[in-house]
Amino acid sequence: MAGGAEDGATVRTVTCWPGSYDRFMTDEADDHVPVTRRQWDEHMSAWFERYARPRWAAAEPYWGIWCIPQSQLPVLPAGPAGVAAVELGCGSGYVSAWLARRGARPVGVDLSARQLATARRLQEEFGLRFPLIQADAERVPLGAGCADLVISEYGASAWCDPYRWIPEAARLLRPGGQLVFMAQSTLARLCMPEQGPATGRLVRDLFGLHRVMRTGASGNRYRLFTLPHGEWIRLMARCGLMVEDLIEVQVPPGGTNNDFPEFPEEWVRRWPAEEVWFARRGSSRTGRQ
Ligand SMILES: C[S@@+](CC[C@H](N)C(=O)[O-])C[C@H]1O[C@@H](n2cnc3c(N)ncnc32)[C@H](O)[C@@H]1O
Repeated sequence: MAGGAEDGATVRTVTCWPGSYDRFMTDEADDHVPVTRRQWDEHMSAWFERYARPRWAAAEPYWGIWCIPQSQLPVLPAGPAGVAAVELGCGSGYVSAWLARRGARPVGVDLSARQLATARRLQEEFGLRFPLIQADAERVPLGAGCADLVISEYGASAWCDPYRWIPEAARLLRPGGQLVFMAQSTLARLCMPEQGPATGRLVRDLFGLHRVMRTGASGNRYRLFTLPHGEWIRLMARCGLMVEDLIEVQVPPGGTNNDFPEFPEEWVRRWPAEEVWFARRGSSRTGRQ
């Protein structure tokens, strides 16, 4: 698989030169998928349920921790009518619902039975149906080239190993198709210790940045992922995905965040807590080596 890490190869310190990084980086413990599934089924889905219905009901999509409206943060592509979309890590399915209402044909993929149960309940309530598949976004049971759009808002983009889900997204996309994903910014990850709020200092190394452990207030440890920007670009290029844009999200005046105290207001006035990537699949899957 293009851009995949070599099985079993693990290193802690990596000298990074273009094209070499992902050949050596892999999730050292390689336990994130079953652990993440259990965490979402056992407690995370219950906590996230509060966001599901209001987002399903919203006339205008809004994004991320600060609920920035689509008119100010255009994450959904213009004119999605007729577009075949796959949402990787769809959770309660509101992004797919927004797409379906605008005439797209979304398929939601998620690991968690509880999250998908919420999505099904909201499909009933809003009378809006689209396929939901319980599967790992790193190994999606859909055919190559089936999608015009692959999208993830804090799903695969935050919880899956980029060396596995980016090649999967590229495989799903037809030539010319678009990948859009949103997650916490690389800068935010660098400034956040394992527990507690973002600081004004770099507390993690950029070199070797990949799996990021975070401990919640409950003491649960979460396995999240990110990469240095250069490595995101090279990984996507190797999978035939050319980056078209990267929005480093600036919280607009009046933007509120009542639920995520790890980002003090003072921090987000100066730095982007979130980022959105846009890439397009070329006609060849090989990309730049
Ligand atoms: C914060 S939610 C984001 C989804 C959606 N935007 C929402 O808020 O409902 C993260 C989702 O990623 C899913 N997820 C985590 N790891 C996954 C994997 N390997 N494959 C598919 N889904 C995964 C979780 O089950 C969860 O529903």
